[in-house]
Amino acid sequence: MGGINWVHLWGLTCLGMLVMSLCQENAAVYIVTMKKAPASHYNGQFQKLCSSALSYGASGKFNTFNKPRKSCGTDKSYSSHLIHLQDSLLRKALKGQNYLKLYSYHYLVNGFAVLITPTQADKLARRKEVSNVVLDFSVRTDTTHTPEFLGLPNGAWVKEGGPEVAGEGVVIGFIDTGIDPTHPSFSDDLSLNQYPIPAHYSGVCEVTQDFPSGSCNRKLVGARHFAASAITRGIFNNSQDHASPFDGDGHGTHTASIAAGNHGIPVVVSNHQFGNASGMAPRAHIAVYKALYKSFGGFAADVVAAIDQAAEDGVDIISLSITPNRRPSGLATFFNPIDMSLLSAIKAGIFVVQAAGNTGPAPKSMSSFSPWIFTVGAATHDRIYNNYIVLGDNLTISGAGLAPGTDGDSMYTLVSAMHALKNDSTDANGMYLGECQDPSYLNQDLVKGNILVCSYSIRFVLGLSSISQAIETATNVSAAGIIFYMDPFVLGFQINPTPMSIPGLIIPSPDDSKVFLQYYNNTLVRDTTTKSIIKFGGLAKILGGLTANYSNLAPKVMYYSSRGPDPEDNSLTDADIMKPNVIAPGNLIWGAWSSEGADSAEFQVYLTGEKFAMISGTSMAAPHVAGLAALIKQKFPTFSPSAIASALSTTATLYDKLGGPIMAQRSYSNPDSTQSPATPFDMGSGFVNATAALDPGLIFDTGYDDFFSFLCGINGSSPVVLNYTSNNCGNTTMNGANLNLPSITVALLNQSRTILRTVANIGSNETFSVSWSAPYGVALSVIPTKFSILIGQKQNLTFNLNATMNSSAASFGRIGLYGNQGHVAMIPLSVITKVIYNGTIS
Ligand SMILES: *[C@@H]1O[C@H](CO)[C@@H](O)[C@H](O)[C@H]1NC(C)=O
Ligand SMILES: *[C@@H]1O[C@H](CO)[C@@H](O)[C@H](O)[C@H]1NC(C)=O
Ligand SMILES: *[C@@H]1O[C@H](CO)[C@@H](O)[C@H](O)[C@H]1NC(C)=O
Ligand SMILES: *[C@@H]1O[C@H](CO)[C@@H](O)[C@H](O)[C@H]1NC(C)=O
Ligand SMILES: *[C@@H]1O[C@H](CO)[C@@H](O)[C@H](O)[C@H]1NC(C)=O
Ligand SMILES: *[C@@H]1O[C@H](CO)[C@@H](O)[C@H](O)[C@H]1NC(C)=O
Ligand SMILES: *[C@@H]1O[C@H](CO)[C@@H](O)[C@H](O)[C@H]1NC(C)=O
Ligand SMILES: *[C@@H]1O[C@H](CO)[C@@H](O)[C@H](O)[C@H]1NC(C)=O
Ligand SMILES: *[C@@H]1O[C@H](CO)[C@@H](O)[C@H](O)[C@H]1NC(C)=O
Ligand SMILES: *[C@@H]1O[C@H](CO)[C@@H](O)[C@H](O)[C@H]1NC(C)=O
Ligand SMILES: *[C@@H]1O[C@H](CO)[C@@H](O)[C@H](O)[C@H]1NC(C)=O
Ligand SMILES: *[C@@H]1O[C@H](CO)[C@@H](O)[C@H](O)[C@H]1NC(C)=O
Repeated sequence: MGGINWVHLWGLTCLGMLVMSLCQENAAVYIVTMKKAPASHYNGQFQKLCSSALSYGASGKFNTFNKPRKSCGTDKSYSSHLIHLQDSLLRKALKGQNYLKLYSYHYLVNGFAVLITPTQADKLARRKEVSNVVLDFSVRTDTTHTPEFLGLPNGAWVKEGGPEVAGEGVVIGFIDTGIDPTHPSFSDDLSLNQYPIPAHYSGVCEVTQDFPSGSCNRKLVGARHFAASAITRGIFNNSQDHASPFDGDGHGTHTASIAAGNHGIPVVVSNHQFGNASGMAPRAHIAVYKALYKSFGGFAADVVAAIDQAAEDGVDIISLSITPNRRPSGLATFFNPIDMSLLSAIKAGIFVVQAAGNTGPAPKSMSSFSPWIFTVGAATHDRIYNNYIVLGDNLTISGAGLAPGTDGDSMYTLVSAMHALKNDSTDANGMYLGECQDPSYLNQDLVKGNILVCSYSIRFVLGLSSISQAIETATNVSAAGIIFYMDPFVLGFQINPTPMSIPGLIIPSPDDSKVFLQYYNNTLVRDTTTKSIIKFGGLAKILGGLTANYSNLAPKVMYYSSRGPDPEDNSLTDADIMKPNVIAPGNLIWGAWSSEGADSAEFQVYLTGEKFAMISGTSMAAPHVAGLAALIKQKFPTFSPSAIASALSTTATLYDKLGGPIMAQRSYSNPDSTQSPATPFDMGSGFVNATAALDPGLIFDTGYDDFFSFLCGINGSSPVVLNYTSNNCGNTTMNGANLNLPSITVALLNQSRTILRTVANIGSNETFSVSWSAPYGVALSVIPTKFSILIGQKQNLTFNLNATMNSSAASFGRIGLYGNQGHVAMIPLSVITKVIYNGTIS
């Protein structure tokens, strides 16, 4: 059901009173799961009768990796039946009491979100129809917190896929902040040939005043919003958040364009032409499920509703650039309503991509947990906009600034705002005056024709001061340019290329800022007695930073990208699961921007009306992979979610563009001086390679049943598994290391361990030889070391691991399967704690 059905149940005026009366008793939103199977599982059982399922025959042959969804249609009456049961449960259990049902979940999850008091929650939990009751929790988007920016093309995206057809027929569902439907990246009149809406997609478009009829088309095939939990909390701001699929933020428009924006859209920002933009799968279809909002983020109850609807509508891929604000409590991180609904999505054949989170670089900072989710970390790519200043002593300092340079070779006098104040200016706000926010404080005679020097403080990050305001000030007093240095209290901070209409630059490094200030200070000529400044002796020129160059050493794991090992629970037990799965471009990514988007107050002047923005985060990395997954799905329509994940993983590259190992930044300040070679806990299998992923050769497949057994293998999990899936664990359990994933992670190697994998061949009749490097402190053998495999066949691989030392330091190895027809599959191997037999037992 949509996000607005509660209005019909209660009416708006009643809502206020109801919420008030509930609030007095600490009412909160709870997510309630019922025991009866949801519609997708019900259909799944039903479908077995009418569609071919995955079958590995005795001969080792297989037909397909996936049960096609909806081949027998959805059973609408079963869904209505579930909703009816939910309503009657509430009526019976909470007879005569106030409560507010916000959502019925019925496709992936049979349950609902409801505003109730803790006492009422207890009552519901005791009902035999109810399997689980959990408190709703908040989630956030995964862009970096800082100033972030406007749009440019990305040559690298265009190379992938062939823009005329790439991704056609595949629908990507975005759980995000909505979309600006008027953006040219989402129009469908660009292509001349047929471009039908895929028949398997049945989603609708919500029509509102700011999302009028006609907003959807053959490109943007569905759009809805889910805000009931947020509205119930009273934090929904209509003027900013838009009670419609319209994107009041910019984030959702950006992520959708990265994955599936049209090809060849010219990017013009601040009158500069930056080239053409294109999504990774420019002909894939976009379905928007807005559950995140500009002013507050989002809530799980709304996100689960969005996921449930996306699955019911028939999306092929779900892209989530969001992670929980806190690690889920309880037995294991996997047991939370969002991950559990995504497990159900996997069962329905939907590939799920999630951002790793931006809480790096500490170990276990991972915010995406479950093995059925494809988790993406953020890396740089090679495009960079460098800007420099050259000082009078010939020292060069680099900085950020999408700005023109000063004229020719001329040097300009440096004048700090603090030294150009009018006599009556008083600094009421501490350092405020140094931030160049108001021209009326400045003595124009001192600044005119010179370079104005301003301080960049934490106030900029908070939106209290802005670059754009400082540029207005500089223009107003006829400065020749503007330079920002880091306030000494700012310890280090990511400053992205910032568009400036006049020559300008921000010095992002605190150390460089000190050098700059020292030069400035040392060149001041002061009166020996009064100490007042007689002459500004510092000179500089700004070289300009409007031209991209592709010299950046890339890829590199960004410091903010969340790291493994995968925390299994809140006491940070390590899971036998590798996270992240891969890395993809996430830093300084140009993408479409909503006409009403403005990420931070700092850049409002520039973002208003701009059609493109450059922003950073694992949020931007995830949709790159969603787009690539669409290309794989298009080429291999029968691939299961794990087969797509396998293709992306085994083919990922481990080297940067100079052939060295991919590096990972390891600190927030001075990230480049702390980097070291990336491990699987930094980059997973490596940096995605689109070309290779489309021809993977060997596939590691894993199904829902394996993930179910994995959950059952967690100590004491049976009641929780029953609560979430309505199924009993039975006798089959599986350790995470034994899931048939294209990676091996062993949190504790107690003496020795044997691990099995099965590969299926979709490439060519081929002979593979196996080679490996063992993690430090581990002896490794692999059987067989060579095998021939026909198309359509399977091969078992056995890995024996022996600890050769006691150590709790993670160590890493790799297994490579090298085919004589050119296919290569790489498997990262991580062992954390190693314990050897120590001989004291006789
Ligand atoms: C399972 O759900 C029931 C009903 O909500 C609850 O009482 C019980 O504590 C849950 N068990 C676990 C292990 O979460
Ligand atoms: C909603 O947002 C507008 C501006 O976007 C702001 O002026 C107003 O104060 C906000 N309302 C609330 C209740 O926060
Ligand atoms: C950008 O796209 C336009 C059409 O939208 C095309 O005319 C132009 O040649 C493209 N430019 C580049 C650099 O690809
Ligand atoms: C800076 O470099 C220029 C050209 O290389 C040279 O002429 C000038 O003397 C240098 N100035 C200083 C202060 O070193
Ligand atoms: C500021 O004061 C100094 C001396 O106190 C004086 O010489 C100067 O003219 C004054 N400037 C302005 C703009 O009033
Ligand atoms: C500037 O230089 C003076 C001496 O020339 C020194 O006393 C002062 O501390 C310096 N200030 C800064 C901020 O470096
Ligand atoms: C990506 O894969 C293709 C095809 O296997 C290969 O030619 C290319 O070198 C790979 N790129 C990188 C960066 O590894
Ligand atoms: C689990 O094992 C027990 C005995 O080991 C057996 O009686 C029971 O039928 C098994 N249950 C399932 C679901 O396989
Ligand atoms: C693969 O080998 C099988 C059995 O030898 C043969 O029938 C088939 O034609 C071969 N396929 C290709 C693509 O070479
Ligand atoms: C691991 O230990 C077992 C038993 O001690 C031994 O049979 C095997 O050869 C060892 N494997 C390796 C790779 O050392
Ligand atoms: C591969 O291993 C599985 C058990 O893990 C076994 O059932 C199957 O027969 C093996 N296949 C081959 C070809 O050895
Ligand atoms: C050796 O093993 C014994 C028995 O398992 C254990 O008590 C002891 O702590 C171990 N010593 C080391 C150094 O691991």
